[in-house]
Amino acid sequence: MRIVLRLACNHTYQWRKFLNASARRFSQEFTHFGYEEVPVEDKAKKVHKVFSNVAKSYDDMNDAMSFGIHRLWKDTLIHKMNPGENVSLLDVAGGTGDIAFRFLNYKSLSGEECTRKVTVYDINQDMLNVGKERAQQNGLMDCNISWVCGDAENLPFEDNTFCAYTIAFGIRNCTNIEKVISESYRVLKPGGQFLCLEFSRVNQPILRRLYDAYSFEIIPVMGEIIAGDWNSYKYLVESIRKFPDQEAFKDCISHAGFKFVDYTNLTFGTVAIHSGFKF
Ligand SMILES: C[S@@+](CC[C@H](N)C(=O)[O-])C[C@H]1O[C@@H](n2cnc3c(N)ncnc32)[C@H](O)[C@@H]1O
Repeated sequence: MRIVLRLACNHTYQWRKFLNASARRFSQEFTHFGYEEVPVEDKAKKVHKVFSNVAKSYDDMNDAMSFGIHRLWKDTLIHKMNPGENVSLLDVAGGTGDIAFRFLNYKSLSGEECTRKVTVYDINQDMLNVGKERAQQNGLMDCNISWVCGDAENLPFEDNTFCAYTIAFGIRNCTNIEKVISESYRVLKPGGQFLCLEFSRVNQPILRRLYDAYSFEIIPVMGEIIAGDWNSYKYLVESIRKFPDQEAFKDCISHAGFKFVDYTNLTFGTVAIHSGFKF
């Protein structure tokens, strides 16, 4: 019944779009929140609400939606970084700590146990709280892990602080992507690496159609059943479509000053890992 109601509610979406388009004439500062156009100052609040709503079920939903494949994508990100001893990482939009835990548990290719530091940084305290609980359950509290709440567009860290910067499935939720990237550049040490794991563009037409059908028809239903939240997962699917494709995002990173900017597609381009270095 709830799902039928949700489907009915979707009809109001077109009306909201029309009203927002009219409102747009009176203001210049609009951005997208999924397929909705919203005032720039409202996006962060809306995104915050999404992640507060889903924080408790976030990890279960990730497993369900991706059939567990998100774990492999995150493993690949850390393998690509291949962190050695004494590396300091800033994991922005770090949420419930998936990237941070992999980073701390990673054994470098030489087989050494490493002493590393990670700062998990996220705008949503509810997500960080889930992460802290998980860290405790995994006995990671003694490791060098700190949790800081704040906005990726204004990092409260000195210039040239970290050896590496990661942002996984976070940047498309931010209002000003260029600002996020320029902040990452500022806080990285010279020689430091930027790594971004994000949903991207599936270019093969048949696969893209299948992927779209799965995304738009199944994921919001799963969101309603598992997390009791249709709209947050509808936003998730739409926000993926609004994010720049592989080449356009690569250009954004290069424009910020990063060198050797490159990307690797995973699972037919469903997601991509972009990386670059500060010199
Ligand atoms: C999809 S989750 C990704 C969490 C984690 N990185 C992972 O891969 O599982 C996106 C995260 O981005 C955070 N976020 C959204 N906008 C942000 C911003 N402007 N600054 C920092 N974090 C933000 C959300 O609170 C949320 O925890």
